[in-house]
Amino acid sequence: MNKDNPMGFEHEGFFITSSPTPQQCGKCHIRETNEFEHSRHAGPAWLALTGWDKFTPAQKKLTEGIPELTRGPNGIPTATRNAIFEMEGPNVTPAACQVCHSIGEPNKDGSIGNCSKCHLRHEFSLAQVRKPEVCGQCHLGPDHPQDEIYRESAHGVIYATEGDKWNWSQVPGRLTTRDFPAPTCATCHMSGFGGQGTTHEVGTRLSKFLFAAISTDRPNAIQNRRNMQAICSNCHTQPFIDSVYRRADSVTAFVNRKVQKASDIISGLIEDGIITSKPFATTISYDAFDLWHYYGRTAKFAAYMGGPDYVQWHGVYPLLRQLQRVKEDAARLRADHKAGAGR
Ligand code: HEC
Ligand code: HEC
Ligand code: HEC
Ligand code: HEC
Ligand code: HEC
Ligand code: HEC
Repeated sequence: MNKDNPMGFEHEGFFITSSPTPQQCGKCHIRETNEFEHSRHAGPAWLALTGWDKFTPAQKKLTEGIPELTRGPNGIPTATRNAIFEMEGPNVTPAACQVCHSIGEPNKDGSIGNCSKCHLRHEFSLAQVRKPEVCGQCHLGPDHPQDEIYRESAHGVIYATEGDKWNWSQVPGRLTTRDFPAPTCATCHMSGFGGQGTTHEVGTRLSKFLFAAISTDRPNAIQNRRNMQAICSNCHTQPFIDSVYRRADSVTAFVNRKVQKASDIISGLIEDGIITSKPFATTISYDAFDLWHYYGRTAKFAAYMGGPDYVQWHGVYPLLRQLQRVKEDAARLRADHKAGAGR
């Protein structure tokens, strides 16, 4: 790139543009780009909003090859979730969904996504991207409070109180507990640490589809779980790690059962012609959505990431109250329907 271009800037002795796509970064960083494009941070993030609309056949083919994009309800976004994007429309979504999900928006040059959503523009520092605030731009709020959970966890507290003494710019792949005595989001999900190599394929350390209403195992669940536990085992014993996962699996199974109950109630109402199958046409359909999308998910995320308050008071307790509300509303709707039919 021409050094006189006002949009250009210097990066490791090269001049590149200020709004680069992965195609440009990928000229020099082939491995990272390839891994990123095969993660849910790429195509699946955009697919969750609009479906395949903006994808070229080549971009579609690449995205379909992602192991974490399984067929069926846990891989392809459901109609219900797309429905909010439709419902809110272009007056809202460019300032909402799209700001976060554009991390995987298909680009005109054939590449997918935007590296600069994490490597914030003009700043390729490892210190920046290893800090939880970078992930917290998107991973927060009632539907995925990972940032809040991390802050509550022992790990987050050590980061907040002692992080200024850590060796943030250690060379990738050489990080050890000497540099990072406690993990950040990047340490557990992306960094090379102990025996694990650095990865931009963020699904490779995850065993469950936690974001789904009912959480099932991922395609490579056993290996993925080993990959994550190899990070923990730099600092914890295997019996301790096993007990954390056992507790978390048990919370997940509990949440699955409750969500299934609510889902059965809603499908019963639809089958009996009491409410329409159109998403978000009735209050009870909002309530059933909040039940898993806010409370169920929160409890599951927090169980694996060390946030007891999010398992309990932001998770399971409001989940139970919400299930009760759905039950009572369904009974009322049925009674009203019966009374209406008798008239
Ligand atoms: C012209 C080649 C080139 C391009 C294009 C390029 N980089 Fe780099 N980048 C390098 C080199 C060389 C290094 C230093 C050696 C290394 O660590 O691989 C580097 C290092 C990095 C680092 C690590 C910095 C560190 O402190 O070790 C990051 C992160 C990075 N680049 C991100 C990007 C992103 C994101 C893009 C696209 C916006 C990009 N690079 C485009 C050549 C390039
Ligand atoms: C603050 C950033 C942010 C906003 C705004 C946002 N999302 Fe998300 N969304 C995320 C993150 C982060 C996840 C990943 C949660 C996880 O995997 O645990 C996610 C997950 C999802 C998923 C589940 C994953 C999948 O591919 O099925 C869907 C669907 C989704 N979002 C749709 C939307 C829609 C529609 C909107 C707007 C109405 C929206 N999101 C607004 C950040 C955001
Ligand atoms: C989800 C956030 C995120 C996105 C998106 C992202 N990166 Fe990174 N990247 C990271 C983190 C975190 C690290 C530091 C890993 C570590 O601790 O060693 C990193 C490290 C790097 C490095 C240095 C790694 C090494 O082994 O030398 C390069 C180069 C890089 N990223 C390039 C890219 C490119 C190119 C893209 C887009 C195709 C991209 N990144 C997208 C989070 C991200
Ligand atoms: C610009 C917004 C954004 C940023 C910044 C971001 N993410 Fe994400 N992340 C998302 C979205 C959106 C999804 C959900 C994609 C989908 O499944 O549709 C996601 C999904 C994930 C997942 C689940 C992947 C899977 O296979 O289900 C992990 C793990 C993750 N992100 C970790 C991180 C980490 C660690 C960082 C910081 C280094 C980070 N993210 C930064 C938006 C972001
Ligand atoms: C101590 C390690 C650790 C730290 C620190 C950590 N996570 Fe996690 N994270 C996990 C584990 C373990 C899981 C569940 C893995 C599984 O499915 O087997 C998980 C799950 C997730 C998921 C859910 C993906 C899905 O299936 O929906 C996202 C997204 C995520 N983490 C993002 C983050 C973000 C963002 C941060 C920082 C604010 C963070 N994590 C901090 C270990 C960690
Ligand atoms: C870089 C080191 C490091 C890594 C990696 C790490 N932890 Fe920790 N963890 C700590 C430290 C330090 C504490 C503080 C309490 C202590 O010393 O045990 C802690 C505390 C915890 C606690 C709270 C313990 C309690 O009794 O309150 C849990 C649960 C936990 N870690 C689980 C995990 C899991 C699961 C993983 C992997 C997904 C993991 N940790 C990865 C260093 C680490």
